[in-house]
Amino acid sequence: MYLKHFGFSEFPFSLTPNLRFFCSLTAYKEALNVILVSLLNGEGFVKITGEVGTGKTLLCRKLLNALSSDYITAYISGTIFDTLNLQKTIAHELGIDIPQNVDNHMLLHLLTNKLIELHHQGKHVVIIIDEAHTFSDQTLEGLRLLSNLETESRKLMQIVLVGQPELDKKLKKTHLRQLEQRVIFSYRLPTLSDQKDLLSYLCFRLAAAGYHDTNDTLFSPKAIKLLLKASHGIPRLINILCHKSFLIAYGYNKKIVDADAVKMAIADTESLYHKNVATRHHLLKIALVSLSIITIGVGLYFLIK
Ligand SMILES: Nc1ncnc2c1ncn2[C@@H]1O[C@H](COP(=O)(O)OP(=O)(O)OP(=O)(O)O)[C@@H](O)[C@H]1O
Ligand SMILES: [Mg+2]
Repeated sequence: MYLKHFGFSEFPFSLTPNLRFFCSLTAYKEALNVILVSLLNGEGFVKITGEVGTGKTLLCRKLLNALSSDYITAYISGTIFDTLNLQKTIAHELGIDIPQNVDNHMLLHLLTNKLIELHHQGKHVVIIIDEAHTFSDQTLEGLRLLSNLETESRKLMQIVLVGQPELDKKLKKTHLRQLEQRVIFSYRLPTLSDQKDLLSYLCFRLAAAGYHDTNDTLFSPKAIKLLLKASHGIPRLINILCHKSFLIAYGYNKKIVDADAVKMAIADTESLYHKNVATRHHLLKIALVSLSIITIGVGLYFLIK
């Protein structure tokens, strides 16, 4: 395809969360720092939330990579419906042999022993829960109970919750307030907010894919403007649009991605449509509420008069 045409050794905007393509923009550095500070603090939960496609899973990988061998990590992703399954998953990640027909009580015993053993070896156990918003309330409560395991001086495990903004709403529920209160540090991953950030992101990924002409970003200024607007600064959408734009530019034998290529990529991308529909619905709601307020206001005016 377009690799040779543009001088890449691999695709610069592939969707797999590959660490080599991790671009350390300020927000990602801040998010990582918040987690590391919280782990040093040794207490409570840390929570990272962000919209779909903003880089949460890639951040988890970066974290796993950044922690020294003093940390024993367990990365859990996906839906877990009950406490027994949660305990089994964590036990499995920590390398515990789980007997068949094990029950909650026995598992908790095995887990506690393993955690104490690791603690004596000077290791810190960190459980990273990606997609935490998909956890049932019962599983989240089970997680809180597990986090209660501690010595006189330190928690036996620390928990990093990562999820979409729905996680915040979930933790606000009355019966989960004990967990919410234990979240000492948190961070909301923003989208890429301006052209400077987007340009850094694009240049970084191009360089990681083997493109080394620093005088040329391969995108026209108008193309960058359009990319930012259409993607709302969401890295996954940026990647999809960039990949398609390169395909189109290659198809037309162009040497750079111009606004026309991006426009065609936008027209071909349904996921943008969903985002725009959501925005339109939001605007429609605001318009309706404003209209109701004006109508009530006018009604009251005539009533008082
Ligand atoms: N800081 C970054 N540097 C480079 N690429 C990034 C960065 N953040 C996100 N991406 C890219 O954006 C895409 C989406 O990232 P990721 O899968 O981590 O998002 P997510 O927030 O976990 O999405 P979801 O909410 O669907 O789970 C991936 O292709 C990833 O490589
Ligand atoms: Mg993810």
